[in-house]
Amino acid sequence: MTLQIKTLEQYKEVYQESVEKPEFFWAKQAETFHWQQKWDNILEWDFKTPAVKWFEGGKLNITENCLDRHLATRGDQPAIIWEPNDPNAPAKTYTYKELHAEVCKFSNALRANGIEKGDRVCFYMPMVPELAIAVLACARIGAIHSVVFAGFSATALADRIKDATCKMVICSDYNARGAKNIPVKAVVDEALKQGCSSIEKVIVHKNTGGEVQWDDAKDIWWHDTMKDRATTCKPETMDSEDMLFILYTSGSTGKPKGVVHTCGGYMVYTAYTFNNVFQYQEGDVYWCTADVGWITGHSYIIYGPLLTGATTMMFEGVPTYPDASRFWKICEKHQVNQFYTAPTAIRALMAKGDEYVNGHDLSNLKVIGSVGEPINVEAWNWYNEKVGKGNAPIIDTWWQTETGGIMITPLPGITDTKPCYASYPMPGIQPILVNADGEEVKGNDVEGLLCIKFPWPSMIRTTYGDHERCRQVYFSAFENMYFTGDGCRRDADGRLRIIGRVDDVINVSGHRMGTAEVENAINEHPAVIESAVVGYPHDIKGQGIFAYVIAQEGTAGDADFEKELRAVVTKVIGPIAKPDKILVVPGLPKTRSGKIMRRILRKIASGDASNLGDTSTLLNPEIVDAVRKAAGV
Ligand code: WTA
Repeated sequence: MTLQIKTLEQYKEVYQESVEKPEFFWAKQAETFHWQQKWDNILEWDFKTPAVKWFEGGKLNITENCLDRHLATRGDQPAIIWEPNDPNAPAKTYTYKELHAEVCKFSNALRANGIEKGDRVCFYMPMVPELAIAVLACARIGAIHSVVFAGFSATALADRIKDATCKMVICSDYNARGAKNIPVKAVVDEALKQGCSSIEKVIVHKNTGGEVQWDDAKDIWWHDTMKDRATTCKPETMDSEDMLFILYTSGSTGKPKGVVHTCGGYMVYTAYTFNNVFQYQEGDVYWCTADVGWITGHSYIIYGPLLTGATTMMFEGVPTYPDASRFWKICEKHQVNQFYTAPTAIRALMAKGDEYVNGHDLSNLKVIGSVGEPINVEAWNWYNEKVGKGNAPIIDTWWQTETGGIMITPLPGITDTKPCYASYPMPGIQPILVNADGEEVKGNDVEGLLCIKFPWPSMIRTTYGDHERCRQVYFSAFENMYFTGDGCRRDADGRLRIIGRVDDVINVSGHRMGTAEVENAINEHPAVIESAVVGYPHDIKGQGIFAYVIAQEGTAGDADFEKELRAVVTKVIGPIAKPDKILVVPGLPKTRSGKIMRRILRKIASGDASNLGDTSTLLNPEIVDAVRKAAGV
């Protein structure tokens, strides 16, 4: 196991060491894993290209560290506890031995179906244990997984399949979410009609057992291909810097990009952070409510916990089914010790009323976590009082798809906590605040743009198929720094508070969305001439989506038109990107160079039209009043 920090003094010492001798520090963590062959070089880096290599020459397989390594010591301990959507159906447990056997069987099935090291395999699955099994099986045979959140549309799925030229899709028949039975295979069928010529086979896991269309030439049932497979499988030997997975995420421009993570560094960092941030103890039950379709599920449902030999829970359903007490019932039932969720879930449950949380035995909770978006004071306090009962510290963890693991967070029981503050960097992480010119903002009680000035093992290596884009987005804004896209405040005592994105990315219920992506989808409607999408404060979702639309005459106030726009966004991206508010406007405020003045649109969308600043230099200053009037502010 990696080091587990226990005291504040130790945190300070270890932090100091990690900055003074980073290579030495990380080598010590890496040595706690099983490597088939030790690395030649701990670190080589340059943020210009960028080129970052950790533990180069080291040979490993991450699944040997997730599974095989634990067999002798905790083979009969639960590795995964799966809680199904239906509250009356029994939970399912896989011990480390059982999980190892299932992963090996599916690894053999993948190989038998023509998947080899380096092939890309796309996932489009609900939260079932087979998802974790298949992800690990890919890693075992050196195939690269690209998990797509099962709420995305067929078009969005097709885009991701094509970008990574995936050879296979693994899916389920249906997705049981609350009272709904959502078709999954049908979405894959639809996606495959959109030019995904690289796909040779589709493996379908039977989940709810509903009707599906079948193509004998490419569709294969999970249970058929798993039949009689050997329960052992020799893991592929991977180089530390070989690709482990691709995960698509939204940025301020263009289509979502495939963030690439590699084997060695990602393994070391996710295990190290899991062990320290959650202070996992032998025998604990850990539950992260994220979906494996997002980075949080990758790092803190699957890899981090299993690398640490933890018992990790997977939940198929939603927090409000059958009612808003589901999370707390599950915590009580499985005596959950560490609970990790998103502010949007906390706000939604808080709004339902205290009666749903009161009366549940949450006394096993030792740590409660928050991730994905800024948590507001009311939600923080409610979480602290009603869920943690003042006994379980809140860890407000800041990180990103690109960082691979948690970067800034309190360590529970070790460092202090303050509402809304992610607080302190993990040892090994060197954050820096800069102004727009890239100059360091020093001292305390200041604000700046959050950058990281030294590499860490699980950082993004490239954007799949387009390295220049990676350089441009993350490494070109400021010399020799990774730019996060977030604004950040440092309080009088040096704690960090993440304020939110400073680019055109919005965060809706913890889901990252590019405004350009939503605009492109809206623009597909034939009556739309131009659109501009901004975020606005939303009580439950954190940010809501506000779409300003210039459209052909007769569309203003037309409910059918709004419905059609939402339908087009649902088709191109998925229901998570549906605008909350649509406003037909006669024009959009633009600069003389033709750029939309989003600052003004954001203000109006927030319902506050005071202080719009100087609008006289706009190309069309008169439009500001027209937009205000249309918005009624
Ligand atoms: C935001 C999720 C405030 C931030 C792991 C970041 C947060 C983006 C926090 C990454 C937090 C994440 N407080 N904001 N604790 N955690 N964010 O890639 O804007 O889905 O840049 O990764 O979410 O979102 P992503």
